Amino acid sequence: MSSKIRLGILGGGGDSLIGVLHRVASAMFDQYQIVGGVFNPVWEENIGFVKSIGLPTNRVYKDFDTLIEEEVKLPESERMQVVSVLTPNFLHFPMAKKLLENGFNVICEKPMTTTYEEAKILRQTLQMSNKIFAVTYTYTGYPMIRQMKEMISRGDIGKVQKIDAQYYQGWINPIIHDKEKRANTWRLDPEKSGISCCIGDIGTHAFDMIEYVTELKVESVLSDLNYMYSDNKMDVDGTVLIRCSDNVKGVIRTSQIATGEENNFTVQIYGEKAGLKWEQENPNHLYLLEDGKPLRVLKPGHTYNSELSLDGTKLPPGHPEGIFDSMGNIYRGIAKAIKKEEFDSAEFPTIVDGVRGMSFIEKAVESHQKGNVWIKIDA
Ligand SMILES: NC(=O)c1ccc[n+]([C@@H]2O[C@H](COP(=O)([O-])OP(=O)(O)OC[C@H]3O[C@@H](n4cnc5c(N)ncnc54)[C@H](O)[C@@H]3O)[C@@H](O)[C@H]2O)c1
Repeated sequence: MSSKIRLGILGGGGDSLIGVLHRVASAMFDQYQIVGGVFNPVWEENIGFVKSIGLPTNRVYKDFDTLIEEEVKLPESERMQVVSVLTPNFLHFPMAKKLLENGFNVICEKPMTTTYEEAKILRQTLQMSNKIFAVTYTYTGYPMIRQMKEMISRGDIGKVQKIDAQYYQGWINPIIHDKEKRANTWRLDPEKSGISCCIGDIGTHAFDMIEYVTELKVESVLSDLNYMYSDNKMDVDGTVLIRCSDNVKGVIRTSQIATGEENNFTVQIYGEKAGLKWEQENPNHLYLLEDGKPLRVLKPGHTYNSELSLDGTKLPPGHPEGIFDSMGNIYRGIAKAIKKEEFDSAEFPTIVDGVRGMSFIEKAVESHQKGNVWIKIDA
């Protein structure tokens, strides 16, 4: 029998954005084997998709409850060991909770839940389950992000004094000005998406990234969100001032109406000795800025990079690695944890990051609603 980890998938069907990223990432280091799941709530689409990508059909279930029911009947040596939850946001919490309660490890897309309350319940459920729980803040797996973290941690840029994270997209621009379209997009529907669109979808990446690379905690936020139209219940743009531990201040700038932008996620951390700048759309370059010196560009695969960065680089320098590789690194870290092998806690985000992310979303919305006031992050 294969020694690969038996992986189940919820969501991520042929009609999805993120499914292919998880499937490729799980295959990247030959650690997982997809054994089944529910890829789409419509049976014909579900089974049709599985056949079209050549996966076995015998453990493709009609719905999530049937998956649990049937999988727990299997001997432990055959049962799914971990299940990836890639559905729209409102299904993350009920699915992840039931999976944990039934003894499965979980890989959950972000935002982890739709409310902070749900996130805390999930944390409690996890504590009782003794399982592995990962949240796929995808970008933390990039080699040059891992390098940025290491350089900040060992003091290369000195004490951090300014944080600026920007995540600009433009995909909602063609939707927001059309009443029918904006009413029919799940990310703009609070029932499916949660209390926030822009902050919940991409602001949460920026928040997590700041805490990941700087190892500081964002302690309070003051936000100004934009909903554009009175019938639109969800933010599509937002600026959040942040105050972090160690008296560091910064800003998270997010937008989904930045016309023409794709995934312009930029992380800039400035210390008293130097600055570091990274751009998701050009992820193999990490810029080192210093007073009075020429700009330096650090790249993956060179021995000047940290062990963790090099561990996440598969090819010699000059072979660009992208978002699939970043997610692949996260899946590899999770595989080590499931197999009880040694791993670095920086290899994949956990429930701690998921809970903090949900607190951030809730407090950013609260700050805006209360008239742009400072609110403390809870978690
Ligand atoms: N980590 C990242 O960078 C990143 C990027 C994009 C999306 N996401 C997250 O991934 C999740 C999915 O996003 P998406 O863009 O792929 O959404 P999507 O709407 O493109 O796809 C959702 C998929 O879930 C399926 N689905 C819906 N209800 C289901 C059910 N009851 N059972 C099984 N499958 C069901 C749909 O058929 C579809 O295949 C969201 O939570 C989103 O925030 C994360």
